[in-house]
Amino acid sequence: MTSSELWTRATADRYDAEEAENSSHAALEPALTFLAELAGDGRALEFAIGTGRVGVPLRERGVPVAGIELSEPMAAVLRGKADEDALPVTIGDMATTVVPGEFTLVYLVYNTISNLLTQDEQVECFRNAARHLAPGGRFVIELGVPPLRFLPPGQAAVPFDVSDRHLGFDTFDLVEQLLVSHHFTREGEDGHYRRGASRHRYAWPAELDLMARIAGLELEQRVADWDGSPFTDDSAKHISVWRKPA
Ligand SMILES: C[S@@+](CC[C@H](N)C(=O)[O-])C[C@H]1O[C@@H](n2cnc3c(N)ncnc32)[C@H](O)[C@@H]1O
Repeated sequence: MTSSELWTRATADRYDAEEAENSSHAALEPALTFLAELAGDGRALEFAIGTGRVGVPLRERGVPVAGIELSEPMAAVLRGKADEDALPVTIGDMATTVVPGEFTLVYLVYNTISNLLTQDEQVECFRNAARHLAPGGRFVIELGVPPLRFLPPGQAAVPFDVSDRHLGFDTFDLVEQLLVSHHFTREGEDGHYRRGASRHRYAWPAELDLMARIAGLELEQRVADWDGSPFTDDSAKHISVWRKPA
């Protein structure tokens, strides 16, 4: 039983079109280069592989990729792009599901560790990554830095996207370390907006380092983006790499 919300058929059917900008060759190139280098000659396992936005092009680069995905509708969209032999996907929870074999790389991108809504499950996710790694293998996470510096006392919401097509803002439960991302997305030209919301557990990089340590992994690298730019006070997100000791 997982705390993650289950991604529905309707969400899966919309996902690739809504993420088109972040799925282009140009947008993905730095991430694919980063991940392919870490995978080396070994195999990669993507936790929460979704519709294969990253996994499919990484496979096309010659890296053998497997995936774990909770939502059958999301995995079904991936299946339209790559068959089971080319890219095996196991339906299950990334915190607990075990797949056969050993991997030089396990990766979990696009803020998705935050879909696990409890600290215990996030720790289990690190342990599950470590379980799948060969000695010397890496676990990579892409995650936003909690935007709490934008939340002055008395203010409940932080906008993250204000455009004609989409209004997005987060609201926070600071006691439970949870946030809700609210989305109003324009559909068609009649001025109609669809409302959506998703719940997340946010975590600071230092908390993730502690989870990694519990799982027997060591921090190797933290950068601000896939291009390797330095992580600073003002970074809005981070790419973190933990290594399983050889
Ligand atoms: C933002 S999408 C990311 C998909 C893909 N990794 C990408 O970069 O496009 C989040 C995905 O995480 C999956 N997910 C959420 N909780 C999960 C869990 N506990 N175990 C496995 N997959 C999960 C969702 O079903 C969804 O496909």
